[in-house]
Amino acid sequence: MAEKKAAEKTAKKSDFKHLLSPIEIKGVEIKNRIALAPMNTLFSMDNRGYVNEQILAYYAARAKGGCGLIITECVLGTRLASRFPYTTNLHCYNTSHLPGLYELAETVHSFGSACFIQMSIGFGRQGHSHVGEHPPAPSVVPMMIKPELMPRGFGKALEAHPQLIERATGEMPYEMTVAEIRSEQDEFANSCRFAVAAQFDGIELHAPHGYLEHQFLSPISNRRTDLYGGSLENRMRFMLEVYLKVRESVGHDYILGVRMSADEHLPGGITHEEALEVARTLAALGADYIHLSDGSYEALSYFFPDEDGAMLEEASHFKAAVNVPVFCPSVHDPTLAEKAIAAGKCDIVSLGRQMFADPEWGNKVAEGRVEDINRCLRCNECLMRTAAGLPVRCIRNPNTGRERYMPECWRRPQKLPPVTKMRVPPRLPEIREDF
Ligand SMILES: Cc1cc2nc3c(=O)[nH]c(=O)nc-3n(C[C@H](O)[C@H](O)[C@H](O)COP(=O)(O)O)c2cc1C
Ligand code: SF4
Repeated sequence: MAEKKAAEKTAKKSDFKHLLSPIEIKGVEIKNRIALAPMNTLFSMDNRGYVNEQILAYYAARAKGGCGLIITECVLGTRLASRFPYTTNLHCYNTSHLPGLYELAETVHSFGSACFIQMSIGFGRQGHSHVGEHPPAPSVVPMMIKPELMPRGFGKALEAHPQLIERATGEMPYEMTVAEIRSEQDEFANSCRFAVAAQFDGIELHAPHGYLEHQFLSPISNRRTDLYGGSLENRMRFMLEVYLKVRESVGHDYILGVRMSADEHLPGGITHEEALEVARTLAALGADYIHLSDGSYEALSYFFPDEDGAMLEEASHFKAAVNVPVFCPSVHDPTLAEKAIAAGKCDIVSLGRQMFADPEWGNKVAEGRVEDINRCLRCNECLMRTAAGLPVRCIRNPNTGRERYMPECWRRPQKLPPVTKMRVPPRLPEIREDF
């Protein structure tokens, strides 16, 4: 420990040359290999789905703090999906969502970072209606939380917030018809065109963690006997159709990546080999990057690992399987992140909880001040609060959640107008309002 501290004190900018080197994805230059991982903070504070000042300031703080790439929290992309949120989420499925989303992308750009939006076709059986409606899913199989696979702090949180039990067990889903599957995919593909119009640099499809796309992929939640169930080819059909319809909708020149779990880590669930096969197929179809994660609500300890760099080994298998950039979350130690990128285990590290604890992580690495980084304790207080329906706060950083009161997180005055040329999706006039 003492040796590690001494080494940190003598760390220099040049010790992180891989982590600080730029990367280009489809013509978009990202100034370093540091991304803010997508995280729903509950700062939207209602489920109407609009961006507000706190959301803008939260992302601005992380862009200002040195993240080359900001990936937004997951944004619900259909009317049906938005009825089954995780308490509250941003929405993107009609023109009324555009001004706030545009403001978000523009704010992040004004701090010199690229900005991708994470778009979700829905949470399936992991969504909650708040009014007792049954959520749509591949099959009538409710989720079942496994106490032995819960992350640190969960037991204590259950005692403090008994309402967690209801959320953790989930609601009984209904089985989507083939017609409903297709109309959801069509509406979602159309919604992604609003994200392009809002000037995000790329879209990340949200397919990890036991949400709807993952539910179709998993034999645990998908018991269908039609063309969407059974073999791996059938179980991945929903995900591939979503990818292909969105690709068609946003065009081939636009960045379209996918986030997925590297393994379900449950008996009878998606295996690591199956996940690798899905990633290979997506990359062959033109996906521009794979952003890994792990597990699901039923195996939450993999989703929120207690150990630093827990997913790096899996990431290296994906690097060997695909020829597109691989993003790996949960590497909080800059030295480990540098080594992982230098060794070719991943191309970008995406930081989640660590960015609640210290939004200036990137700047401190770039200035050779790693000993000043306010380390995340992986105590999961932030996460448990959201599970209890409360907005994110961090026990290590009293300013997380209060960025809107901090003038340094407001957008700076610009010398030149930020908008010189507006990017429009192909055939913009065809964005439909009539779903
Ligand atoms: C409060 C909270 C909300 C999250 N919301 C999302 C989300 O909207 N989409 C997503 O793909 N991952 C989400 N995650 C997972 C993170 O992106 C990340 O993979 C995870 O926290 C592990 O990385 P870390 O150890 O750096 O926190 C969330 C995590 C937290 C703590
Ligand atoms: S509350 Fe803060 S220190 Fe604890 S896990 Fe969340 S980000 Fe890390």
